[in-house]
Amino acid sequence: MSRVIELKHPLVKHHMTMLRDKTTPPFIFRDQIRRLTLLLAYEATATLPVENVEIETPLCTTISKHIDTRIGLVPILRAGLGMCEAVQELIPQAEVWHLGFYRDESTLKPVEYYQKFSDHPPEIAFVLDPMLATGGSAIEAINMVKKWGVSKVSMLCTIASPEGIEKVQKAHPDVSIFTCAIDERLNENAYIVPGLGDAGDRIFNTL
Ligand code: PRP
Ligand code: URA
Repeated sequence: MSRVIELKHPLVKHHMTMLRDKTTPPFIFRDQIRRLTLLLAYEATATLPVENVEIETPLCTTISKHIDTRIGLVPILRAGLGMCEAVQELIPQAEVWHLGFYRDESTLKPVEYYQKFSDHPPEIAFVLDPMLATGGSAIEAINMVKKWGVSKVSMLCTIASPEGIEKVQKAHPDVSIFTCAIDERLNENAYIVPGLGDAGDRIFNTL
């Protein structure tokens, strides 16, 4: 069964409060997503492989470490875009490959509308989406990333529902899920409760 890592850090709890608050305007909401993603990415990259490299400091030659693995970030449009730059800040050499899904609000199924993959998949991929609700979008995105040829995939989300986590774990037992909060439940419209509302609309000010 896949690992589920819920961040317990006080900074995460603190920043989640402003993120959830309905009076938080989009420009602060975006900052909060960014801050929380930095913390998520720090945790999700803890097991990245490092290799020795010989360098010259001003004083001597020494063996130091670097990350030589090709890493792909896969933000799910639209809301995943809000997380992407934060991860790029920590991994500037990461490649960004976009996937577009929207959730059909009558069927609750993800509808794909954009895919930008190459013939050369990265070795490791981080799928980015603030909301893991029913899990449908995440499962489809991970299916596509694996079909592309990536063998090591992690999912980073700001909030996850217990229902969504269970579904992703069942579909992708090898994929670790990193989240800032596991909320109580989904409501009758498959929105996460207490949640934060519609992440894409709050990031892009399209409420
Ligand atoms: C939201 C969210 C996820 C999806 C989660 O996207 O960003 O992609 O819903 O729901 P699920 O787990 O039930 O599939 P939305 O469809 O609102 O599109 P948007 O990002 O363009 O706003
Ligand atoms: N998508 C969102 O943006 N929020 C939810 O609570 C569920 C799906």
